[in-house]
Amino acid sequence: MTITIIGSGNVGGALAQQWIKKGYNVLIGSQFPLSEKNIKLATQIGEDRFTTVANAVKQSEIILIATPPEVIGEIAGSWGDVSGKIIIDATNSIGKKPDPYPTVYHYLSDTCNAEVVKAFNTTGYENILDPFYNGEPIDMLMAGDSEKAKKTAEELALACGFGKCYDFGKGDKVELLEKFALSWINLAIIQGMGRDIAFRIVKR
Ligand SMILES: NC(=O)c1ccc[n+]([C@@H]2O[C@H](COP(=O)([O-])OP(=O)(O)OC[C@H]3O[C@@H](n4cnc5c(N)ncnc54)[C@H](OP(=O)(O)O)[C@@H]3O)[C@@H](O)[C@H]2O)c1
Repeated sequence: MTITIIGSGNVGGALAQQWIKKGYNVLIGSQFPLSEKNIKLATQIGEDRFTTVANAVKQSEIILIATPPEVIGEIAGSWGDVSGKIIIDATNSIGKKPDPYPTVYHYLSDTCNAEVVKAFNTTGYENILDPFYNGEPIDMLMAGDSEKAKKTAEELALACGFGKCYDFGKGDKVELLEKFALSWINLAIIQGMGRDIAFRIVKR
């Protein structure tokens, strides 16, 4: 299974490292020349994984988006045919949005003939790199209309070490999931708890 990561900064870089560790074939669909952040990532995961967005997408069944939301139109304009591919949207449209859509998920669902899911957006990238607190895994959440894409997102969340990947609902819950991300940001940054915090669902 080949995964293309577009946007290999904090979130995309963390996911790349986790999935490579688990044996997935990971390509980075990048801008060139490579940015400082990508040069550093290349020393960790290998420069040969970095190629153009179009070239990486052509070779992959799965695409993970972790860019600023407002550049999705530019990326989608360059990636060629994505029909039938699974696209995981890890972005949050906080501040800038992919106008006229409220989220990247909505943009992709409306413009691409792909299987789209929102996941990996609700926690800080540090928790993607290390999803364990006191030896217990934290949880991931996902939402979207494609059951196929959700199955893949769940597999990839468990591969990172998340305990469970809960289904938050269909596409109408995607904005709620972005609000969930905002809730983490509120506690971690605005209320000053710091970024070493996470959510886990407990059941009686
Ligand atoms: N930071 C977090 O903890 C966190 C957690 C959950 C979700 N998110 C969401 O995830 C997304 C990424 O956040 P981040 O913190 O990982 O950002 P980041 O570290 O700034 O990384 C952004 C990445 O997007 C790439 N990029 C920007 N414009 C592009 C374009 N036109 N074409 C291709 N690639 C482009 C950048 O490439 P260059 O290096 O070449 O500029 C970089 O690799 C945001 O939507 C954010 O809201 C962030």
